[in-house]
Amino acid sequence: MLYQSLYRQYRPLGFQQGYVGQEHIVRTLQNSLQTGRLAHAYLFSGPRGTGKTTTAKIFAKAVNCLSSDKPVIEPCNQCELCMAVNQGNAMDVIEMDAATNRGIEEVRDLRDRVKYAPALGRYKVYIIDEVHMLTTEAFNALLKTLEEPPAHVIFIMATTEPQKIPATILSRCQRFDFRPLTEGMIAAHLQSIAQQTGVNLNEEAAGILAFRAQGGMRDAIGLLEQVIAFAQGDIGPEHVWQSLGTVDKTRLVELANSMAARDIGAVLKLLDEFGHMGLDYRQLLLDLLELLREKLLQVSGAMRNTKLNDDLRLKTAPEIMTMMDSVAAGLQDSRRWTHPRLAAELIMIKICNAEAAPAREQKPTPTKSAAKVNKEKAVTREKWEEILGLVKGESISSYAWLKEATPFINADTLVLEYPDNYKLHCENIVKPEHRQIIVLAFRQVLGIDDYKVRTREQRS
Ligand SMILES: Nc1ncnc2c1ncn2[C@@H]1O[C@H](COP(=O)(O)OP(=O)(O)OP(=O)(O)O)[C@@H](O)[C@H]1O
Ligand SMILES: [Mg+2]
Ligand SMILES: [Zn+2]
Repeated sequence: MLYQSLYRQYRPLGFQQGYVGQEHIVRTLQNSLQTGRLAHAYLFSGPRGTGKTTTAKIFAKAVNCLSSDKPVIEPCNQCELCMAVNQGNAMDVIEMDAATNRGIEEVRDLRDRVKYAPALGRYKVYIIDEVHMLTTEAFNALLKTLEEPPAHVIFIMATTEPQKIPATILSRCQRFDFRPLTEGMIAAHLQSIAQQTGVNLNEEAAGILAFRAQGGMRDAIGLLEQVIAFAQGDIGPEHVWQSLGTVDKTRLVELANSMAARDIGAVLKLLDEFGHMGLDYRQLLLDLLELLREKLLQVSGAMRNTKLNDDLRLKTAPEIMTMMDSVAAGLQDSRRWTHPRLAAELIMIKICNAEAAPAREQKPTPTKSAAKVNKEKAVTREKWEEILGLVKGESISSYAWLKEATPFINADTLVLEYPDNYKLHCENIVKPEHRQIIVLAFRQVLGIDDYKVRTREQRS
């Protein structure tokens, strides 16, 4: 038998078994199947691998299924028609791929052929994949058909780029927006597929794969297939790391810590080591971002702590966000580079050389001691105004974030205090682009090189 890739083997044949998410779509489609109020044209839009084609096929079977004399909410997958659709040779369900020849011939052909009644089922269903690829000419031909569709015809158009579809077509379609699938949904589905193929996929491993897939089930199953082939048995996180060419989390934490310590030597040594492992540098930056994101969720209380993340030296939200910003900027930048390793090295060196992040060492949480607050000095009105003036001259947006702060001087640091609900200000004012500008002004007016941010609540 011809080998069939895993994602094809596990394409759900109905809404009940193995179909994940998109509840809003399934409910509406099933309602219209039940009441028999069917549209003539549907548009399924959404990201890659989230179930558009799958759903179109299920729907095509449901309107035509021979197990009943009217549309059913779940296809039987046993009648002649359902089976023909599953095998891809149903006369009444015609799949067209607009991407291959941009559809001119096919659409012209279609205009002549739609008038013939279905052979076996109740409706002729045309599934047009990647419909945004049609030429203007093909769209016009399609529009003619959509204007006066014969009663027995249903069009299902699928696209990842709905914005490229002419309004004249859109206005004649009932539109369904497919959503990216959540990591939880994907991880659970992968575990179930693995089990059906006879291997055990551990929860952490499933989580890494789900994260990698970025909301698309096809990609997720593709990655799983790759790891199954590699592991030849039960799958743990180490198999995922090794087979996808990424470093394990311990080493990633090590890298992040060396970066936080601004230890360029250690960072370059790690990169060199990773290079010998044949690692993908872009992926490394993505993984680093994910690690930082997890840590951020933890310090903000949205996620449970894990041992590994505890080892991370970055402890405060502003520090973490500053590094995330730099890594993300580096990642953007890396697209311009043909040599990924060089790009990664440059990014790391830049980060290590950047202005030091605030609060390098975690200070004990402030207590309600008045003495402590008294040690702080207010900044005089004139000086503050001078600072604001300098910053405003450089960047209006830096000025806008800064001007809401009340400044204090504490030893050799400037403390910017914001009202408690000014979370966005606190996050933004520590971004590198603003930091660069305002540190210059602080230095010039107060001779101070560093600043920290807090809310009023954190003071008392
Ligand atoms: N909602 C889902 N539930 C279960 N499996 C899914 C789902 N969506 C996608 N898959 C899996 O991914 C594969 C590809 O899905 P499908 O062809 O429906 O994606 P698509 O949205 O049409 O993507 P594309 O835009 O790339 O054409 C399916 O064969 C199936 O294995
Ligand atoms: Mg598709
Ligand atoms: Zn059937």
